[in-house]
Amino acid sequence: MVKKPLGIMAALHDEIAGLLAVMGPDAECRRIGMRDYYVGDLYGQRCVVVLARLGKVAAAATTVTLLREFDVRAVVFAGLAGGLAQGVHIGDVVVADALVQHDLDARPLFPRFEVPLLGLSRFPTDLRMSGVLAQAAADYMVLGLSRDIDAETRDLFAIGAPMLHRGPIASGDRFVGDAGLAAALLSDLPGTLCVEMEGAAVAQICYEYGVPCAVLRTISDRADASAPVDFAAFLHRVASRYASGILQRFIENYTD
Ligand code: ADE
Repeated sequence: MVKKPLGIMAALHDEIAGLLAVMGPDAECRRIGMRDYYVGDLYGQRCVVVLARLGKVAAAATTVTLLREFDVRAVVFAGLAGGLAQGVHIGDVVVADALVQHDLDARPLFPRFEVPLLGLSRFPTDLRMSGVLAQAAADYMVLGLSRDIDAETRDLFAIGAPMLHRGPIASGDRFVGDAGLAAALLSDLPGTLCVEMEGAAVAQICYEYGVPCAVLRTISDRADASAPVDFAAFLHRVASRYASGILQRFIENYTD
């Protein structure tokens, strides 16, 4: 029996460019709903790679297409995030154990953060996939990072010894660039490691379809007033290397 492919998503082009280069010109490209889905072999596995673009609607629509049109057996999402919890620094990596939509609020009809009529606010990721992803991130930070990112860039972003964190992530349709707002998010959702704009939508769709998923985030900023500048600089100088390096190791080692 032919094995179903793995679905690989990212919010920004830089994060999948490396994988698309490895897939090469032979990858089949199908355009659906203004997105290009590249089907091909990556590090020994059949994969579908797609740029989801930013925000929860974009992420949900892309996930549904991966599941229904390509019948992927699992979904992994890679992107950037703003650090919220203390000790989550620029250059660190977060692997989600659960995701919540921080901007979902149907009170007084339903409790804050709860997805109406589903009765859930936190969507779990797959434990085994997340374990392989976390190991891939840890290996990359020890073995690949210093080779891929020069010393000057590592100094610029103060990423001498980046850390791997595992825990909850909050997603919402806004870029958080305000320390007050970041503090409020953390107080409303204690323990949240970082904030981004897609992960909870991917996790909700995968939950509803019963397909395992994992979410990887590299911290590009601290969700404060310097976030837009930090984000842009990080994206161009660092993000693509992290994403390709970690996803390569994940694909090589993920078996099911
Ligand atoms: N992605 C990266 N940084 C972010 C931030 N500060 N807010 C939301 N999404 C992000």
